[in-house]
Amino acid sequence: MKTLTLLLSILALANAYPSSHGFATIIQRDQLKKEYDYVIAGGGTSGLTVGDRLSEDGKYSVLVIEYGILDNNPDILSGGVNKAMDPSREFVISSVPQPHLNNRTVEVVVGKLVGGSSGVNGLQFFRGMKEEYDLWAEIGGKGSDWDWNGLLPYFKKGIHFVPPYDYLAQDFNISWDLSAWGQDKDTRIFAGYPNYLYPELKTYYDAMAAYPGMPIPKDGNAGTGGLYYYPTQMDPKTYTRSYARTGHWDGISRSNYHLLTSSQVTKIVFNGNRATGLTFRPVNSSSTTTPPTTVTARKEVILALGTIHTPQILELSGIGSKSILSAAGIKTKVDLPGVGENFQDHGFFYNISWAFATPPPIPAVNSSGDPASALSFNCGAVVGLPIFTTAKKTEDLYRSFKAQSPSRYLAPGTHPDVVAGFAAQKHAFEKIFRSENTAWMWIVLLGVPFFNPVMQHPMSRGSIHINTTTPTAEPVVDYRAFSNPVDIAVTVEIVKFLRRYMTSEFWAAYGPIEFSPGAQIESDEQIAAWLRGIYVPSVYHPVGTCAKMPRHLGGVVDEELLVYGVEGLSVVDASVMPVIPGAPTTMTVYAVAEKVCLCVICFLWGRKGKGGAFMEIEDEVQSRN
Ligand SMILES: Cc1cc2nc3c(=O)[nH]c(=O)nc-3n(C[C@H](O)[C@H](O)[C@H](O)COP(=O)(O)OP(=O)(O)OC[C@H]3O[C@@H](n4cnc5c(N)ncnc54)[C@H](O)[C@@H]3O)c2cc1C
Ligand SMILES: *[C@@H]1O[C@H](CO)[C@@H](O)[C@H](O)[C@H]1NC(C)=O
Ligand SMILES: *[C@@H]1O[C@H](CO)[C@@H](O)[C@H](O)[C@H]1NC(C)=O
Ligand SMILES: *[C@@H]1O[C@H](CO)[C@@H](O)[C@H](O)[C@H]1NC(C)=O
Ligand SMILES: *[C@@H]1O[C@H](CO)[C@@H](O)[C@H](O)[C@H]1NC(C)=O
Ligand SMILES: *[C@@H]1O[C@H](CO)[C@@H](O)[C@H](O)[C@H]1NC(C)=O
Ligand SMILES: *[C@@H]1O[C@H](CO)[C@@H](O)[C@H](O)[C@H]1NC(C)=O
Repeated sequence: MKTLTLLLSILALANAYPSSHGFATIIQRDQLKKEYDYVIAGGGTSGLTVGDRLSEDGKYSVLVIEYGILDNNPDILSGGVNKAMDPSREFVISSVPQPHLNNRTVEVVVGKLVGGSSGVNGLQFFRGMKEEYDLWAEIGGKGSDWDWNGLLPYFKKGIHFVPPYDYLAQDFNISWDLSAWGQDKDTRIFAGYPNYLYPELKTYYDAMAAYPGMPIPKDGNAGTGGLYYYPTQMDPKTYTRSYARTGHWDGISRSNYHLLTSSQVTKIVFNGNRATGLTFRPVNSSSTTTPPTTVTARKEVILALGTIHTPQILELSGIGSKSILSAAGIKTKVDLPGVGENFQDHGFFYNISWAFATPPPIPAVNSSGDPASALSFNCGAVVGLPIFTTAKKTEDLYRSFKAQSPSRYLAPGTHPDVVAGFAAQKHAFEKIFRSENTAWMWIVLLGVPFFNPVMQHPMSRGSIHINTTTPTAEPVVDYRAFSNPVDIAVTVEIVKFLRRYMTSEFWAAYGPIEFSPGAQIESDEQIAAWLRGIYVPSVYHPVGTCAKMPRHLGGVVDEELLVYGVEGLSVVDASVMPVIPGAPTTMTVYAVAEKVCLCVICFLWGRKGKGGAFMEIEDEVQSRN
């Protein structure tokens, strides 16, 4: 009894928040109902989106259980790309040593607060290319509608786009295509532009625009790539972070939408083959002997713990590869070898930089705006191999990839279903490998001769599994970075591209001198060796560990995102993406979460929702002030 009182007071403290906002109901443990229609594990990006949608018409009761707190630190809203990231609101896990990166370990970072990773992320906001999503449907099999056309209404429904001011659009050549966007008044996840851009950015844009063959789409969010200005995850009225909490929790007043914070989900509860609930325990409990609390889900248990923790909870609940489960002493409920496999992230490298003999002049642009309105970067080149490397190199890379046997570079002992899944991915990817619009490379333009280029289509496949000696410890994360040699070969081409860009005619008058890595790093082998010392196989966009693919291909969830082998259990977070798109992942996470709400609910419970296709699009630039 004493322990319980203590727990409750700890929770009360952890849950303290200013009451000026009209929040939906945040509950204390003693207010927990025994049963809800839907119980959602994880109050992050996808979890709050789904929680909001499932509770919006008041018919269903929804509980979200979140590890972190409602964190009101002002840095989250206005600290921009640098300040929001903080270990107090992140899980920080060390990966296993990476043999192809000189045995370095990598920091795995994901959000740990109400709003999840969308509360700490870098705010850059765009989606992948049409053909990258069409691949999802191709791997999904006949009738799959997880392609570009099937997702587009949910990109529109999930995101409220606000175009930039005319003076910025004119001075910097920002264009957009409203037919790719939604402006639903009820959608409070905003994609917006700042009211100021650094004039120097224009120089880097113009130089990139002058690069031979560089495409400039009207809007890079309309399905094809190139050089463009994208929006950021920002409310353009207040110039503050727009994230899952502000969009899908704050200001919502609904007694059927509950959130329990500071609570760690520990296991899924089953009745026979049906998931009937979850167990959880208070995060800050000093006692490890307190039995976990159980809550019942009448309709469905929904996992939204993110790519790192969703496979962990599945495995702890007996769903996963039988060999891993038995090594951990866990009884197998469903032998599902794909759980925790197929792990992908984007990778990047840094410290590639130049200096100028004569710095380029600063362009004359309207500078009446406020630099603080830019919370993050918003301009880049997002392009395919034939744009950034030679025709011959594109062909060579393609041929060596095509010739690979699918199992050749997977981990030894990979389950045959998982191998078959990679074979299907590889087969589908071969068709788009050489496309201009399969965005292998993303160069963010910063307005300085310094770059953090992103490699967006790793063919290496890693894994995330429970620690078999201590199953409740943080999972074991292995990127298996550069295990597929095509990855380092493509990354070498990115270095060579940047050298061509910085030595292009545009810059000649200013005498660019390469500062790092420097002229002594010249051959492909030397560049590769330099990369092994510096490459980071994560831009914090982990996906793929509970992939939506057919079961015989190592899939974990089906086309409705329901977990194979059991009933009443779904996964709705980034882990369901079968192949990582060539774009940062948040916008895709929102679209997936929006789509599954309509498809799961329509399909299972006959509810009709409002699709993006019915929305009226209007230009909001004039009306926002
Ligand atoms: C530092 C950083 C920078 C990024 N930069 C960008 C960017 O610029 N642009 C972009 O588009 N994307 C970016 N991303 C990626 C993007 O934010 C994620 O892909 C997306 O938010 C993932 O959504 P999710 O719902 O899958 O998981 P999350 O949003 O991470 O939600 C998972 C939630 O589950 C909770 N949880 C975990 N385990 C438990 C448990 N056992 N019990 C209860 N709760 C639990 C977590 O606390 C978290 O709230 C970045 C991510 C990070 C971390
Ligand atoms: C990495 O570690 C393994 C195992 O300890 C060792 O065999 C290998 O030589 C190491 N590689 C490098 C590049 O240090
Ligand atoms: C400006 O953008 C358009 C696409 O909207 C592109 O066609 C054009 O080439 C760009 N102009 C410059 C000068 O970069
Ligand atoms: C745990 O307790 C610490 C110290 O009181 C607090 O700072 C932190 O926010 C709590 N964490 C959670 C998830 O409740
Ligand atoms: C610069 O932008 C402001 C809006 O902030 C506008 O009022 C002004 O007319 C613009 N000046 C020019 C020269 O375009
Ligand atoms: C597994 O957990 C134990 C105990 O927490 C830890 O010592 C060990 O390093 C972990 N193993 C891996 C591979 O992370
Ligand atoms: C970056 O490159 C420079 C020049 O090669 C080198 O001196 C410096 O140590 C590098 N910095 C990092 C963090 O690797």
